[in-house]
Amino acid sequence: MVVMVLASSLPARAAGDAERGRAIAESRTQGLCVLCHALPGVPAVQAGTIGPSLAGVGARLSADDLRARLTTPERFNPQTVMPSYARSDGFARVASARRGQALLQAQQIDDVVAYLATLR
Ligand code: HEC
Repeated sequence: MVVMVLASSLPARAAGDAERGRAIAESRTQGLCVLCHALPGVPAVQAGTIGPSLAGVGARLSADDLRARLTTPERFNPQTVMPSYARSDGFARVASARRGQALLQAQQIDDVVAYLATLR
C-alpha cells in the first residue's frame, strides 16, 4: 500500500528514463504490457489486443494520467483486467517468491511513464 501512495501521489519525482521504460514495456518478463497492448515498434503478431493500442497515447494523456493508468487502473474501469503495477497486495494466486512485491518499482513506473509520454 505504501508503494501505491508513493508512486501515485508524488508528481515531483525525478523524471524517468524513456529508453529503460521502453525496454520494460516491451519485455515479456517485466512489464508484460504487450500481452494486452500494441506498442509502436513491436510486430503486430507479438502484440496483444485486449487493451487499446498505445500508439499516440502520449498525445492523448498527460504524464499524471499515464501514471494513474499504471498505478490505479481500476479508477478508469472498476472491472479492468489491467493490473496495478504499484500495488503490492490484493492479487490472487501469487507465486510465493513474488508475494508482497509490486509488479514494478517506483523508478520503473517513472521510466514507463517517460516512455509512454514519447508515444505521440
Ligand atoms: C492484462 C491486460 C493488460 C496489461 C498486462 C496491461 N494493460 Fe494497459 N490496459 C488494459 C485495458 C483492457 C485497458 C483499457 C481500459 C480498461 O479497461 O482498463 C488498458 C488501458 C491502458 C492505458 C490507457 C490507454 C488509453 O488510450 O486510454 C494505458 C496508458 C495503459 N493501459 C498502459 C499499460 C502499460 C504501460 C502496461 C504495462 C506496464 C499495461 N497497460 C499493461 C489491459 C492491460
